[in-house]
Amino acid sequence: MTADGVTIVEVAPRDGLQNDPGDLTTAQKVELTQRAYDAGLRRIEVTSFVSPRAVPKMADAERVVATLRARSLPDASLIGLVVNERGVRRAAVAGVHEVNVVVVASEAFSQRNQGMSVREALAALPDLTGAARVAGLATTVTIGTAFGCPFEGEVAPGALAEIVAAVAAAGPDEIALADTIGVGVPADVTQRFALVRAAAGSDVGLRAHFHNTRSTGIANACAAIAAGVTALDASLGGIGGCPFAPRATGNIATEDLTYLLGRMRQAGQVSLRELIGTAQWLGTSLGHEVPGMLSKAGEFPSPGR
Ligand code: COA
Ligand code: ZN
Repeated sequence: MTADGVTIVEVAPRDGLQNDPGDLTTAQKVELTQRAYDAGLRRIEVTSFVSPRAVPKMADAERVVATLRARSLPDASLIGLVVNERGVRRAAVAGVHEVNVVVVASEAFSQRNQGMSVREALAALPDLTGAARVAGLATTVTIGTAFGCPFEGEVAPGALAEIVAAVAAAGPDEIALADTIGVGVPADVTQRFALVRAAAGSDVGLRAHFHNTRSTGIANACAAIAAGVTALDASLGGIGGCPFAPRATGNIATEDLTYLLGRMRQAGQVSLRELIGTAQWLGTSLGHEVPGMLSKAGEFPSPGR
């Protein structure tokens, strides 16, 4: 948490790796989370508890969490992404601290991503958040394709508002809007988070998830902060993408966002140097250059140091 109340949620171990051509071993995934923690990040989405047939790269979810839970990581909040009740049960047994339940704003994407209609997903939602709460887990509901859908195009604000109302009724601690395919611009961010605030009230936390597919991710992050968002997803190296979204590319890079927040005096206790080191390590481990900028450009120049 920064002075201004903005928290980065590290999603490289989940969103970052789920669609990457490179493969990390379970031990390397654990190392990635450890590095994020050592750099000062505390909320880390470490895996997803979904069908290993749908997302093979997350098949080791239980082992990742078990290994992390065996370590001493004070104040860490490990997050597991889920889309159904079986996922919530697996996440609770594995020992995460939070679940991130995904529903989708567009019909075609909901069917492809999680094999159910939007209506079915929303109908199941209270049982999922209820089961998570009984298990003592903090709950986020992320609304995917909230800014546009790869198959249906525009997602009308009115349609999104109806989904937000149903999500809010399930009583999550936090609601996230996800720009799954990176089509949103700051004006959309302002408008859509105002809509969430109006529908969900002031008690719920707001979180944003931006992909940088069309280079609008960092601008969108600024707009989100201005709109009252207190948690921003970001991925070390800027890796990531959804296996069910054609031409998906990565999230905003954690180190790039940290640079921005740092220069805005909002970066809190996060070490940019360690993040850059980890982004470079990720590139080597995955076998390709990562899209984030800071690992190439470096920190703000400090001549003489
Ligand atoms: N964990 C592990 N396996 C699960 C599961 C879960 N939470 N939920 C369902 N499954 C298994 C079923 O047992 C079944 O296994 P089988 O193929 O060995 O018989 C298989 O997944 C398919 O389940 P089914 O109920 O027939 O539905 P489906 O084929 O329509 O798939 C989901 C639905 C939700 C399981 C699947 O679409 C999914 O896991 N999606 C996740 C998408 C994702 O993570 N996207 C990126 C992040 S948003
Ligand atoms: Zn994503």
